[in-house]
Amino acid sequence: MTHSMMNTRLASTLAIAALAIGAASVDAQAPARQVAAAPPRAPAAAVATHEGPVWSKDVAPILQNKCQVCHTPGSIAPISLMTYADAKRFAARIKSRVATRRMPPWHLDKTVGIQQYKNDRSLSDAEIATIVDWVDAGAPEGDPKLAPPPAKFPDPAVWQFAEKFGEPDLVIKSAPYNVAARGQDKWWRPTSDVPLTEERWVKAIEIKPQMPLGKKVVHHVLASLAQDEGPVPQGVASTAHQHDETGNARPMSAGLFMEWALGKTGEIFNADAGKLMLPGAKIRWEVHYYAIGQEVKNDQVELGIWFYPKGYKPKNRTILNMYNVAAGSELDIPPGQKTITQNYTVLRAPARIENFQPHMHMRGKAMMMEAVYPDGRREVLTHVNNFQWNWHNNYIYADDAAPLLPKGTMLVFTAWHDNTKANLNNPDPEQWVGWGDRTVDEMAHAWVDVTYLEQDDFDKQVAARRAKRTQP
Ligand code: HEC
Repeated sequence: MTHSMMNTRLASTLAIAALAIGAASVDAQAPARQVAAAPPRAPAAAVATHEGPVWSKDVAPILQNKCQVCHTPGSIAPISLMTYADAKRFAARIKSRVATRRMPPWHLDKTVGIQQYKNDRSLSDAEIATIVDWVDAGAPEGDPKLAPPPAKFPDPAVWQFAEKFGEPDLVIKSAPYNVAARGQDKWWRPTSDVPLTEERWVKAIEIKPQMPLGKKVVHHVLASLAQDEGPVPQGVASTAHQHDETGNARPMSAGLFMEWALGKTGEIFNADAGKLMLPGAKIRWEVHYYAIGQEVKNDQVELGIWFYPKGYKPKNRTILNMYNVAAGSELDIPPGQKTITQNYTVLRAPARIENFQPHMHMRGKAMMMEAVYPDGRREVLTHVNNFQWNWHNNYIYADDAAPLLPKGTMLVFTAWHDNTKANLNNPDPEQWVGWGDRTVDEMAHAWVDVTYLEQDDFDKQVAARRAKRTQP
């Protein structure tokens, strides 16, 4: 990627003068760019075996583990993949989705960056090869006696974290909204009171649209926490507060609680971290609705909150940041072109990065988060090279893999948009596209939970990681 192709300018209006690299259109054929925009790799060729894979003993277990949670009646996917008959009927579609790594929805580049995630639901190369071979061989059933017993899945209408934590301590609902059968996208922005009489630290949050229709009309939900924090947020390491003013990052100190979209259930905070709620807090909603050709009455979105025990105070505070990849929200995506946007922020305190969740719309193609360390070393943390706009996958780092970044590290975000007809999600390659809320407009930002650490805590965590790595 050649930075010289981009405009550079100073984002002088921002609190910290972060150098921002603005949107620039680049030649769609530029070979240097193909790396990230290229389609995902073909699966590794299957090892020839004496007997090819069959449904009962080879394919059914994979679909049970990796597909059926969504592909079961009443869940979010349009087709059921519970039985041999289902799978045989949709075999060609299964092959195409699986071989292009669009299903299961896990759209990151597996050849670069961190690969340990708490919520990884991807298929291994071997699993992909098994499915592809099975379809190519005509989707044979094999001996039905060898099939695993049918799997049971949690009811999508109940809280998914309830299994772990019981029912939520608090449930907040958005005011009811009628979604018309037809019409433009709507943004519903009501406010809900939070009945809290003392300050509490939040252990986990989950957002749940109504089943079954709410899940179809809700494109995304932002739940912001509005509360009076005073000049210095309570219980926050001083370094963390300083960090709040950083450059192009929009840290939501009181702010954003959680973002929900298809593919994301909720957030469970690390045991040493949490989000703080104060008495008098309110939830400000932004529910992005779209019409589905059928009226949906009185739709409500629910926010479930689980608290740490009374009096418990986690050491660190997690803050959800929105990093805007296009400085000043400027995007200029000409018809038939691909563009790159890049921006960065500097960490002014040591931090642990908990997740990476890119947000773009239909022309979104790829987004990458890199770390440039104070010594100049540059490392790709996560590269989502096969972005699918209707999937807001949140890539949550495993505990031992969450990047621990020293003060002064630069987080670099790069977004690729593809407005050519090669982009299968592109509704109109003849159309100029700029920044906007509608799904036919574009966006480019990343939601990242950052836990700021005191220096000694950071040093301890780094040392513990090193010790673990050098163990045999
Ligand atoms: C997290 C939920 C989820 C998981 C896991 C998942 N899917 Fe899907 N799948 C969906 C949803 C929702 C759609 C429709 C939206 C889309 O196409 O992205 C879909 C679409 C599909 C389609 C296209 C259906 C059509 O109407 O043409 C196929 C085929 C498919 N999935 C296969 C699979 C297979 C095979 C797996 C496992 C290897 C899998 N999916 C895992 C949710 C999921």
